[in-house]
Amino acid sequence: MSKNNDSFMVTIKDHKTVQHPPQNTLLETIEQHNIGIQYHCREGYCGACRSKLISGEIEYTTDPLAFIDDDEVLPCCCIPISNIEIELDYTNPS
Ligand code: FES
Repeated sequence: MSKNNDSFMVTIKDHKTVQHPPQNTLLETIEQHNIGIQYHCREGYCGACRSKLISGEIEYTTDPLAFIDDDEVLPCCCIPISNIEIELDYTNPS
């Protein structure tokens, strides 16, 4: 594990920038700020939480099993290791 005692800022495109507490997964931080995000398994295999990583770096807490592209992340099983910007629901604009 790397610098996971640090807390980083998470910018959610078209929403807001929030602080990420080190003990949280990225999904938990998004939920704590009442930002809508799809999820199902919370363990990295269904792909429902798939989001686009615009900038920054993350580290997986467990190996993701769902298919993701190079610029995508699974918030349910990752933590930021730098300040990051992500975009939620980018495949399903409402
Ligand atoms: S909720 Fe299933 S992969 Fe994240």
